[in-house]
Parts: sequence; structure tokens; C-alpha cells
Amino acid sequence: VVQGVMSKLVPLAPDSWIPGGTPDPLIRHQHGLIGTEVSRLDGPLKVRGAARFAAEVPLDNLTYAALVFSTIARGRIATLDTTAAEAAPGVVLVMTHRNALQMNAPAMFGTSATACGASNLPVMQDDQVHWNGQPVALVLAETQEQADHAASLIAVGYAADPSVTAFAHAKAQGTKPGLFMGQPLQNIVGDAEATLAKAPHKVDQTYRTPRHNHNAIEPHAATIAWDGDTLLLHDATQMVSSHAATVADIFGLQADQVRVISPYVGGGFGSKALWDHQILGAAAARLVGRPVRIALSREGVYRIVGGRTLTEQRVALGAEPDGRFTALIHDGTVAMTPHNNMPEPFILGTRSGYAADSFKLSVDTVTMNMMANTFMRAPGESVGTFALESAIDELADELGMDPIALRIRNEPTKDPLSGLPFSSRHLVAAWRAGAERFGWDARPAVPGSRREGEWLVGMGCAAATYPYYRMPGAAARITLTRDGEALIEVAAHEMGMGTTTTTAMIAAERLGLPIDRIMVRYGDSIIPGAIMAGGSQQTAAIGAAVIAAHRALVAELLKLAGNDSPLAGLSPDEVGSEDGGLTRIDDATRRESYASILGRAQRDTVVVAEQASPPLEQMHWSMHSYGAMFCEARVNAVTGETRIARFLGSFDTGRILNHKTARSQFRGGIIMGLGMALMEETQFDERNGRIMNPSLAEYHMPVHADVPDIDVIWTDIADPHTPMGAHGIGEIGITGVAAAVANAVHNATGRRVRDLPITLDKLL
Ligand code: MOS
Repeated sequence: VVQGVMSKLVPLAPDSWIPGGTPDPLIRHQHGLIGTEVSRLDGPLKVRGAARFAAEVPLDNLTYAALVFSTIARGRIATLDTTAAEAAPGVVLVMTHRNALQMNAPAMFGTSATACGASNLPVMQDDQVHWNGQPVALVLAETQEQADHAASLIAVGYAADPSVTAFAHAKAQGTKPGLFMGQPLQNIVGDAEATLAKAPHKVDQTYRTPRHNHNAIEPHAATIAWDGDTLLLHDATQMVSSHAATVADIFGLQADQVRVISPYVGGGFGSKALWDHQILGAAAARLVGRPVRIALSREGVYRIVGGRTLTEQRVALGAEPDGRFTALIHDGTVAMTPHNNMPEPFILGTRSGYAADSFKLSVDTVTMNMMANTFMRAPGESVGTFALESAIDELADELGMDPIALRIRNEPTKDPLSGLPFSSRHLVAAWRAGAERFGWDARPAVPGSRREGEWLVGMGCAAATYPYYRMPGAAARITLTRDGEALIEVAAHEMGMGTTTTTAMIAAERLGLPIDRIMVRYGDSIIPGAIMAGGSQQTAAIGAAVIAAHRALVAELLKLAGNDSPLAGLSPDEVGSEDGGLTRIDDATRRESYASILGRAQRDTVVVAEQASPPLEQMHWSMHSYGAMFCEARVNAVTGETRIARFLGSFDTGRILNHKTARSQFRGGIIMGLGMALMEETQFDERNGRIMNPSLAEYHMPVHADVPDIDVIWTDIADPHTPMGAHGIGEIGITGVAAAVANAVHNATGRRVRDLPITLDKLL
């Protein structure tokens, strides 16, 4: 029995068909579920411990892996003594470059549609060492403890070559223009330096952000088994399809000989990708003919999973007395390795943030011998907004202007660099709503002027921004049953952000079924299509695929309905789903239930699979998520300790699909931003390239006691050019936060910290 009205169909406004594609032809329809609060469908499983993660998959005859990490940054393995390890109890295999399976080097992310290697270094194929922490041996044993012990018995001697492990040294070797996904990271409009020189008001400062390492709650792990020439990886990944394709290439297999299953990912943030451990685990499993579990220790994650690289950014702003920007310069340098593809592209958010007469934006790279760095939540924007939004605060001070008024003064009417119209930009509304809600009026006009006992109190703000992306290749398969249940299959991922819940909501609405009649299958590379949980685009990609598959389902059902149906003669464009059946869009008297259509056709199920529409919207509009961040900071005048008293994120990110999971996403991003502002810093030994704080005891992140009341509001204005009217919300939450904190600390103390994290030594 189908209960409840899940969606209402109303006529489509003719102006919604706009060149470039309207990915959701039913965008103007009123909906029932979207915009409500739905608890995560996977929540109870996780609370009960019933959700099985990659390191928990039970397999017969399992062996356990441990890795030995190099202790030099560059050179070669000169001596290697594995005899004690081989003789240790329970040891099944010691694998080094001498006996490793021959494998192809991974194809690096961005070099093809399916490539997802973090670097293109061959894995354990020779005696060369490329970073301090590189795996030089793998031990397989009957238990994890036996493997760990045997690994400790391996003696490695190195012949070190000269290496570059200090940023200053790397810069002295010369810079190269940065490329992001093959595109130059440079924009020049007018002569920004000359304009800056003439500007009546200006700031010109350098901001620094340190290395950050990934610390998802679930350390990286895989449980791996071969069956003949097919390889099964139970893994934690943000990209099952490309992961399977890249692994297949490494082992010289066809794509369909590798299956990657990843139903639960305990946090990804850009790090749950293909690293050496899965490759080595699969190679070892092949050599011994037994399944392998390889679960990295927390230290292991620091050694072989890249993080966010360090940046040194100059922001220079020239302005008229009324605050109008005449010059916007944002350039600087990031460190990379010779074998990776991810500069920290800190100018991405600056490109569409503000209007200005002239621009000079660029990212240069220098090369260091270290672990290949990678994506970390809002790569580019999170550190880029720290520099830009701090500089705007400094300029507001110089001008004697309110920092929000200065930002609104420079609000662009179209994309300042591409000239494209914005698809949906209501940042000013977010600023106004946020200022009102936060009580911005009470901000001390003079920095350092409000003191409560030992505590100096101040307020700061910053803009948040992250692009709208929708990657091609998404697909969905729908299996509809006669009794009104639907299985939705998407090659997508649940990292804890609520994707499966939102997918069920979208499908329930689209199919006119109650959410408890929807099943979502995902996280498996045998499902058609490729959907990456990255770039804050997974939900848009899924939505577009479900929309396309639903349209195919309508077409198929109309065929099955035939001439005896009240729907006879209607085309798929005239029909939508409502209340467990198909309905003519502008005439509810013409309807037939799924049960009736399938019953008359003597079918138990209908199965359709369809690709999402191509993401043409990105070519026609400048598309972004926006936010206005507000922070109240308290700085102890005696100890220099900073405490965040209150935080508000006021977002403009299109329609909010699930209010409950969205609020959590925004809050999680803001918390990660607080860590970036105040705590997170990889301690990198510049003498030898070793990470010195590879543990949660020494790499500080916010705990509950560090997290204040975080308020989140949104404009909830649908973008007519995206599936479901939504923009991405996965990454924007971290952007702008560090600047809002730095600006609040300045307002509290009069001290400007341009070097993250803002630790107490910088305030005393
Ligand atoms: Mo995100 S850094 O695209 O997982």
C-alpha cells in the first residue's frame, strides 16, 4: 500500500528551458520530502556497530599486513636484511622490491577520466626512495601483532642522495607555474601592480599556511582477495569506479576483473583514494594466494597518505576611498613533489569572489622530496580564503570601513574573470541575514577595546566560497517492483555525510513513493556509472542520474501501459510520478498506479539504467556555493589562549535538500576550519623530511571542549540550473573559517596573525 503524498506536480514554466540545459526538468515542481529533516538511514547501523568497514570484513584464511617505512627522503636502499623477519613466528611473506610482484605505475589523478593515483611513482619496483616514509617492505603474518613484530626486525640501510626538504631551499631552486587538472593557475586582467602602486588605499601582505595531514576517524584500510585472475577489494574509497579501473591497469587486468566494494567510509575529506597500501596488499595477496588485510596505523596514514601542502600567499588590494577595489593581487608559492598533481590552488575562490578593475592571480610551485600531497577539504579555497579574507579585513581597517560593507561594496554583478552570469548568487542576502542573526552591530569598533576579566573579546567575519561542480559519467539504475518498491543503484559513496539518505529522498520524490519503499545500493564498482565523492558534487551527480533514470522509467512504463491506460498517447515529457503512479503533469485525472501498469503488463519489475545529462550548466554560468562566516573569539590576555565563543555560518548554497544532514555538514566543515585556524600543523623536520607528529596526541584537532555553539542558517534559494536546485555543501563549511577567526582575534587583541595556526605564542 502506497501512503502519503510525496510530491505534487505543477506546470512547468516555459522560461525554465534555457540553453545549456536544465538538468532537472521538474525543477519547478513542489516537493514533499526535499527541504525536510530526515535522519541518516545508516545512523542506527553505525550506532550499533553493525555497519561493516573495510578493515572489518571477515574472510577465511586471512593474512595481516604491516609496512616498513623509509627513514630518508631521497636515495636508495643499500642493504636489506629480512632474515630475522622471515624466521619470526607466524610470518607468511616478507615482500620488498626484490620479490614484489611486477606492477605498472599508477595513472595519476587528472590524467584520464578513470585515473586516480595520487602519484605516478612505481610502487616497490626498485630500490629508489622518494620520500621519508615510503614503504620499503611489507610483512604478511597470521596475526596483526606477528606482522607488526616481524616488520620491526627488518634492517634497512640507505645510501642517501641530496634532497630538498626545506621550503626555503626549494624556493631557491626555482619556481614553476602551477597547473590544476591541466589548467594554468594564472589570471591577469589589466596592470594590477601599477594600479596598486597608484591606489589611495592599499594593503600588501604575506600569509602562510602549514602542511596539514588527513585524520579521518577511520584510518585507511583494505581487505583484499584474489579469485583466480579477478581481484576484490573491500576498501574505503571516494571513487569506486575509477579506483577499480586504476587498480586493473596496475595489475594488467581488464577493468571488469577488479571489483571495489566500499559501503562505509569513516570520513574521507579527499584522502580516501588509491595509495600504496591497497596496491601492496593486492600484490602480496597474489604472491601468497591468500587474502590480505592491510589496515594502516595512524602513523601509517601520515607516512603514506598525502595531506594539504604548505602555502605562502601574497594578497595585495588597492582601493578607492569608497572601498571599491581597483587592484586585486593574490599570488604565491606552494610545495609539491616531482610526481604528483595537486598544487594547493589557493586562487580558485578569489577568481569569482569580488569585482576589481585589475587582477593578478597566480600559484607557483616548488619541488620538495616528500610524500605526494593531495586533496583536502576545499583544496585551494580553504587556505586561499584565509589569505584573501584576512587582507580584506586589513583593508577595512585601513579605510575605516565596516568589513561587511566593504565586501558588499565589491560584490560582482557577473563573474569578474569569465564574464559569465552567476547562476544563483545571493551572498549579500546571506551577509545581511548573518549580521542580523549574529548581532554584528555589537562588534567593538576599536580592536582590543573589549575586555571581560582576563579575556579580550572580538568579532570577525569572512566570506566562504566553493565552486559548483558536476562531473560527467554518473548513472543510475532503477528497479521498480509491482508492489511499489524501488531499488536505486548508484556507484556512489557514504562517508558519513548522509549521501544515501539524500539519495533516498531524491528518489522517493522523483518516483512518488514513500521513502521507506526506497532501497539504495551504492559503493560498488559493478554498479554502472562513475560518481566521485569529491568536489562537493556527489549529490548533484546522483540527482542528475536519478532524474535521467526516472525519465527513462516513465518512458518504459508508458510503453507498458499501452492503449488501455488513462495515460495512453502521452509522451514522457507530459508525465511525472505522484502517489505511487504516473500522472499527467497538468491533469491529475489522467493517472495510473505502478501496480496497475505492471499488473496489466504481467510484469513483476521494470529495470532501467540511464546516464545523467552532461553537465552543460557549468559552461553557461558561473556557479558557486557561498557563505558569510561570523566568529566571536576570546583571547586570554595572560596566556594568549584563544577560545571561540560563538560561530555562525550563513550560507547561500541553493536549495537545501535534507536540513538535518546539511546542518551537520556545514558544522563539520566549520569545526575542521576551527582546527585549521587554531591547531592543525604537520611538524615537518626540514633536515630530513620526516613528519614528527604522526599521531592524534601531537597533531592537534578540535575536540568537543574546543567547539562552541555553531549556528547555521541558509538562504535556501533554489538554483534553476542545477539538479534539484542544490549547490554542493560538503566543502564550503571549512572555507572562510580561519579568516573569520583571525579577524575576530585581531578585533579582540589588535594583533594580526598571518601565519596559521593562531597559537598562543603568536599572541603574546
Ligand atoms: Mo574533497 S577534498 O573533493 O574529498
